[in-house]
Amino acid sequence: MQLNLVKNIEGLQQALAGLKTQGSVGFVPTMGALHAGHASLIKRASERSKNVVVSVFVNPIQFGPNEDFAKYPKMLEKDMETAKAAGASLIYAPSAGDIYPEGFSTSISAGDMSKILDGAFRPGHFDGVATVVAKLLLRVLPQVVVFGEKDYQQLCVIRRVVRDLDLPVEIIAAPTMRETGGLAMSSRNAYLTPEERKTAPEIYITLRETAKRIKAGVPHRHATAEGVDKLSSMGFKVDYLELRDAATLDLIESLERPARLLVAAWLGSTRLIDNIVIG
Ligand code: PAF
Repeated sequence: MQLNLVKNIEGLQQALAGLKTQGSVGFVPTMGALHAGHASLIKRASERSKNVVVSVFVNPIQFGPNEDFAKYPKMLEKDMETAKAAGASLIYAPSAGDIYPEGFSTSISAGDMSKILDGAFRPGHFDGVATVVAKLLLRVLPQVVVFGEKDYQQLCVIRRVVRDLDLPVEIIAAPTMRETGGLAMSSRNAYLTPEERKTAPEIYITLRETAKRIKAGVPHRHATAEGVDKLSSMGFKVDYLELRDAATLDLIESLERPARLLVAAWLGSTRLIDNIVIG
C-alpha cells in the first residue's frame, strides 16, 4: 500500500477526493510519536475501511502553559514507516497555521464531563481536544474514526461531542495496548528514566488489584484509598484513582452499572494515565 504525505488542507482535500473514489475512509487522529498502540488503531481502522488517513498534529491548544508541548516527541519519518506498515494510505501532518489560521477564535466545550478527572487537573485540555477533533473530522469526513481506550475520558468526551453536534461518523474504541509488565503504551513513556520504567507497571498492577477488591465487595472509596497509598509509597504522586460510570463518567456508589476504574499519577516528571473496565 502506497503512503502519501500532505501538509495542508488543500493537499488533504485533493488526496481525499482520490481516496474516496476507491471506497470508504477510516481515520486515526494522533499527535505522532507512533507506537504499537497507534499501529493497532490503524489496523482496526483498515479492517473497516478501504483507506486509512492518519493525522499527525501536536495540538497546541490542548496543552496547559506548564505542560510538555515544547518537548513532545516529533519524528515524522519514523511515524510514516509505522503508519505504512500498519496499513495507512495517507498522513496528514498540518502546521499549526493550517489548523488555526490567524484570527481563529472558536472553541468547543464538552461541558461537565470535560471538567472532572483529567479535566480538573488540566483545565481546558478537553476543550482543546474536542475543538481539534471536530475540525479534523470535518476536514476528513471519514466513515469511521478510531480512538484508544487508553485515553478513556477523551473517548467519552469525543463520543459526547460527536453525538451532540451530529457529526456524521462512527466511533470505534480500540483496547489499550500494553508493554510486557502491563504498562499502557503511550508516547509519553519515552520520558521515563530506566529506573522509572521498572516502577511504572505498578500503576496497572494497582488498578487490577483495586478492581479485584471492589468486585470482592470492599467499598470502592476504601479500595481506591488503599491503591493511592500503595502507589504513593512507591514514589508516584497520584492525581486521582476513582471508580466512575463507564458511559457518563459520573461518580457511582456500586457496581450496578458498567464501571471504569481510572487513574492518573506522576512518576518523576512524567504523568501517566490508565484505566480498566469493571463489571
Ligand atoms: O489522543 C491524542 O493523541 C490527541 O488527544 C488527539 C485525539 C489526536 C487530539 O489532538
